[in-house]
Amino acid sequence: MGFADIFSCKGKVALVTGAASGLGLMFAETMAEAGADVACADIDEQGLAEVVEVVTAKGQGAIAIKCDVSKEVEVKDMVRKTVEAFGTLDILFNNAGTGQVPTPVHELETEEWKQLIDIDLHGAFYCAREALKVMVSRRSGKIIITSSVWGWTGSSALQSCPAYNAAKGALNTLTRELGICYAPYGINVNGICPGFIKTKIGNNCSEDPEWLEQATPLVPMGRVGLPEELKGLALLLASDACSYMCGELIAVDGGYLAR
Ligand SMILES: NC(=O)c1ccc[n+]([C@@H]2O[C@H](COP(=O)([O-])OP(=O)(O)OC[C@H]3O[C@@H](n4cnc5c(N)ncnc54)[C@H](O)[C@@H]3O)[C@@H](O)[C@H]2O)c1
Repeated sequence: MGFADIFSCKGKVALVTGAASGLGLMFAETMAEAGADVACADIDEQGLAEVVEVVTAKGQGAIAIKCDVSKEVEVKDMVRKTVEAFGTLDILFNNAGTGQVPTPVHELETEEWKQLIDIDLHGAFYCAREALKVMVSRRSGKIIITSSVWGWTGSSALQSCPAYNAAKGALNTLTRELGICYAPYGINVNGICPGFIKTKIGNNCSEDPEWLEQATPLVPMGRVGLPEELKGLALLLASDACSYMCGELIAVDGGYLAR
């Protein structure tokens, strides 16, 4: 296979959760550019309409699916609608997630902890499980889990986000487990650990000068990243270029973890 073929997603069907904004929007766009049809899922209907336009403008099929990933029934429905619309599911960007209002553990209400874990961890589990049901029967597929550098480290050098970090840490281990469990089925499960990327997460903190003043010195490159700086890795993990990779977690973080 030539270089272009290895990275092509032509004829594939991708499902992106959290597709209405930030990294998810970029993943959906990347899939369309690589030739895939894209099912775009999110709770934000306005944002969904916009991402569907982005995908169709690139000549690919797109559908919008309103889905709260923390609701098991809605996740089942999301995968069913994807398969109904496009015939199958080849690639899942298991990406939807929410940030935590910084709060140390001794001040954190149980309800806030549970809400975060329900979305960032349980949601990712529901999405992986439903996608795997389709992929296992076909003995092929790619799952890309969006974790975080804070799945590897504590965050209190900047702000305390214990529920978020716990969810992402569990996602790192889940990525490892899914990677090895489904390798014999021809399914590649890998993860991306972004550092500080300019999106809407954390109430647009990456646009807050005070937050930037504290965050950027922690990054050897001295700046936050942009969603498009994860594009190459996203395509690698969604395409046949990752055919011998499973359970791998790759940071895109300007050197944050390497310090
Ligand atoms: N931006 C960063 O610096 C950064 C760093 C590490 C990890 N991440 C991870 O990247 C992923 C994407 O975040 P982003 O930075 O693009 O933020 P974002 O806020 O721009 O996008 C997140 C999207 O997820 C959607 N969403 C939130 N809760 C949902 C739910 N319950 N069901 C379905 N959709 C839901 C939102 O509506 C939004 O469209 C998240 O998992 C996040 O934890 C981001």
